[in-house]
Amino acid sequence: MGKFGLSLEQELESLGRKAAAGGIARRFAEDEGRFDALSFRLDDLLLDLSKCALGRDDLDALIRFARSQALEERRDAMFDGAPINATEGRAVLHVALRAEPADGYAVNGSSVGEEVEAVLSAMSGFCEGVRSGSIASSSGARFTDVVNIGIGGSDLGPVMVALALSPYHDGPRTHFVSNVDGAHIADTLKGLDPATTLFVVASKTFTTIETMTNAQTARRFIADALGEAAVGAHFCAVSTALDKVSAFGIGQERTFGFWDWVGGRYSVWSAIGLPVMLAIGPQRFREFLAGARALDRHFREAPLEKNLPVLLGLAGWWHRVAQGYPSRAVIPYDQRLSRLPAYLQQLDMESNGKHVGLDGARVSTPTGPLVWGEPGTNGQHAFFQLLHQGTDIVPVEFIVAANGHEDGLKEHQDLLLANCLAQSEALMKGRTLEEARRQLLDAGRSPDEAERIAPHREFSGDRPSITILYDRLTPFALGRLVALYEHRVFVEAQLFGINAFDQWGVELGKELATGLLPVVRGEETPEGRDASTRGLVRAIATMRS
Ligand code: F6P
Repeated sequence: MGKFGLSLEQELESLGRKAAAGGIARRFAEDEGRFDALSFRLDDLLLDLSKCALGRDDLDALIRFARSQALEERRDAMFDGAPINATEGRAVLHVALRAEPADGYAVNGSSVGEEVEAVLSAMSGFCEGVRSGSIASSSGARFTDVVNIGIGGSDLGPVMVALALSPYHDGPRTHFVSNVDGAHIADTLKGLDPATTLFVVASKTFTTIETMTNAQTARRFIADALGEAAVGAHFCAVSTALDKVSAFGIGQERTFGFWDWVGGRYSVWSAIGLPVMLAIGPQRFREFLAGARALDRHFREAPLEKNLPVLLGLAGWWHRVAQGYPSRAVIPYDQRLSRLPAYLQQLDMESNGKHVGLDGARVSTPTGPLVWGEPGTNGQHAFFQLLHQGTDIVPVEFIVAANGHEDGLKEHQDLLLANCLAQSEALMKGRTLEEARRQLLDAGRSPDEAERIAPHREFSGDRPSITILYDRLTPFALGRLVALYEHRVFVEAQLFGINAFDQWGVELGKELATGLLPVVRGEETPEGRDASTRGLVRAIATMRS
């Protein structure tokens, strides 16, 4: 208990409200050293928290809170392979996927380094074979296109990373099919030649209905065009359920495994990254892993006061719980990170969208926020109006590289950077009514008109944002960035007191869909269901051709 008989958490909530009311712009005027005090670095990776309504004392109190929540002990338990995913009785060791064997990660006392390395080398051999043409299609042709079939964690990671690292692509083109909507696979296959297309069926459980349905359709695509005998040469698989892969008819030598201690949304570092490795090659893929490893070491070793994922997590908790903001926007000023917000939605919302704590009781504070976003500058011309002048405050996370890959297009990067900096400055500084009035008068408007329009052109300012900056989006930098967000989610989960590693909330819809399939097909009546579902089923039946 603190000095007023309040828990540290309650004290922080009151500090948070006070800090929000105290604004942000004012703090810069009062404290020249604010940027230096509230920006943090790991090599070229810079995390700027100075444009948040957060004082140095607040940050100290937040760090005390993190310690009181046993953050360091929980972090160490994760790295030690303890079964911290308590509702599923599993270890959480995606960090082992990007480790060096010497890091010595183990689950239940058994070292996992060798197995991880064995799968990585098998993937590398397969990818080199496909990329060089020595592993070829049924007709002996080199594969030109790879289609990954998976959903959720078996899709979003590879999609996001493949796009982000497109300057490094020198292998076959990659495509991704996830939705069970037949339009997705139909549109993808339309432009592809079955004779030179390789499918990767990616599913941790190998039971996910969307993936299995799309995989069967892909199988028919090959069998119809090239004959049944060709199927084996055009498929490979990634899964933890090796028996189910073999029942599907994919050979062992083309199956890449991973383990139940890797959560789906944390699996892009595993064999789930196969389409990425096919596109950029094993060496670049290892650089991506190395970036994540650098961040893992930092998370494990740096003091909390300088620890980037800890600080990002504390700022997230501050915004969500102490200041009560229900959502956060992630805005990469990088077109190639356009799938990062979708990736982070699964990472964050499937992990921290929970209302029951580790102790089994309902939590007493809000948990994970709604995460959303689109790349800048496009977002500026769409939803930034609400960010600047809407009635809700949405903390924004700007992500940007100092340098692009397009050496001949430097003026684009200059504009991109200027826009990114301008948005966080505008959110923080705003524009007063008086400034708005003055601008209108200076532009030749009459005093009456200036009076009428000025309130619409006033910006409250004091809207929080975080900026994450790095040199260039290389495989290493991307690995580090994704690991930063993974550990941030972990940190927030400890502060919320929840388990970030299960996802029971997605089960109910899946179960009901299974039950509704015969009803939609007309094989069972909708009787006994609620009136809305009955009505919709009947309406669908009248429209089905
Ligand atoms: O929808 C829930 C979920 O289990 C995710 O957690 C997972 O990433 C996705 O489905 C796909 O699962 P799988 O890889 O087993 O097909």
